[in-house]
Amino acid sequence: MHGYAAPKLETVRLGLIGIGSRGSGTVRRMAGIEGVEIKVLCDLFPDRVSAALESIRGFPQHSPDSYSGSEDEWKRVCEREDIDLIYIATPWRLHSIIAVHAMEREKHVYTELPVANTIEECWQVVETSERTRRHCFMGCSSCHDGMSAVVLNMVRRGFLGEIIHGEGNYIHDRVSKTEARWVRDKENHNWFGFRPWRLKENINRNGTLYPEHGLGPVAQMMDLNYGDQMDYMVSISSDDFTLADKMKELAAMDDFYQPYVGLNFRGNMNITVIRTHKGRTIMLQHDISSPRPGSRFQLISGDKGIYHANPPRIATSDEGWIPGEEFKALVEKYTPEMTKKFDEKVRHASQVSSGRSYEVVTASDWRLIDCLRNGLPLEMDVYDAALWSAITPLSEWSVSHEGTSVKVPDFTAGAWKTNKRGMDISVRNGGTTALA
Ligand SMILES: NC(=O)c1ccc[n+]([C@@H]2O[C@H](COP(=O)([O-])OP(=O)(O)OC[C@H]3O[C@@H](n4cnc5c(N)ncnc54)[C@H](O)[C@@H]3O)[C@@H](O)[C@H]2O)c1
Repeated sequence: MHGYAAPKLETVRLGLIGIGSRGSGTVRRMAGIEGVEIKVLCDLFPDRVSAALESIRGFPQHSPDSYSGSEDEWKRVCEREDIDLIYIATPWRLHSIIAVHAMEREKHVYTELPVANTIEECWQVVETSERTRRHCFMGCSSCHDGMSAVVLNMVRRGFLGEIIHGEGNYIHDRVSKTEARWVRDKENHNWFGFRPWRLKENINRNGTLYPEHGLGPVAQMMDLNYGDQMDYMVSISSDDFTLADKMKELAAMDDFYQPYVGLNFRGNMNITVIRTHKGRTIMLQHDISSPRPGSRFQLISGDKGIYHANPPRIATSDEGWIPGEEFKALVEKYTPEMTKKFDEKVRHASQVSSGRSYEVVTASDWRLIDCLRNGLPLEMDVYDAALWSAITPLSEWSVSHEGTSVKVPDFTAGAWKTNKRGMDISVRNGGTTALA
């Protein structure tokens, strides 16, 4: 499926499953892209579906049907014949189950992170995508975001030389500022900043639970799956220093948290180190429970220089970071065609249609639809989805074996040695989709 181009779709008929925090934003983002027709909105809760419907009232091209009220409604959505693309933003446990079911029913898939929770599920989505010839795209918007795309271009054009090492994190403090969160979403017991299912993912598990945002940009800069491949990795975790105590604190205020007291929570910090076949290294950090500023794509270093994301800066020797003006000029020089083209579409659409905001639309969503409409390979494929998602169960295994090294499966079955580079940031083809 690497490099695979499905037949062109003039209109991409979309069914969205899981209209919670992320899914409701996706409805609004997708509504503003030319050639998208939202056919179905599906969630367990009817009020989430109706709120999403309300949010796209201003777009007459969409009049989706609503599905809600039972755990299995999503199956009926996948079975409809008038849908091309199924989008999945449910809790993690359902992603691969819905993705496989949708591909079996001849739908392309766009899933939130991760595509799968176990190595078996990773193989299952790969095998299903290959057999059904349906795309399975795991949306990792961090890969298209501002500086990640610029640095990818810099790497591809050789500015940092031969790439040696990369770092990516999911550091996203969910523990501090409890008071503010408590007041904001008291009814849903949502102090955690995520809904309870996501808190539960941190019980009796220890590893890097959400590596894709930090790993994706590094994987692309290293051409993993098309030029290099992960070989083996090790992973260790600290103890939990905050979450168990936080549960006691919360239970004293809200009985909802009583069942969480005394449970075994994931350690604050997980560090995973991966080595590639070409001898490069990647370090991933995961911490959602320590009070500290957030971080995702962190750095990439080569034999000619280094880019560091926090704050964004570049050095080409040990003599210090390149000064501000020179840095700005480099960013301008290496801003890829994809970013320029997308920004131009946003500017144009904002000028011609007053009152609508296109700032919410992401380059990642725009390019996904653009590739489907132009019959182009997608910028990330099922092998990227499987590889990046597999790191979580592998890290859990390594942590539970005192950091023992573990081989990373090659989901391309050796094709990484000859696969052509993915993600066309120079937009050699397509780029024709406007914002609607
Ligand atoms: N790419 C990003 O930047 C980003 C940001 C936030 C969340 N996410 C991802 O999005 C996904 C959803 O996260 P969220 O924060 O929106 O969670 P959420 O709990 O707010 O939303 C999940 C929704 O799925 C619905 N759901 C559960 N079971 C269902 C079923 N059987 N059928 C239909 N609907 C069902 C729930 O009712 C809920 O509305 C996760 O994978 C998360 O990691 C990605």
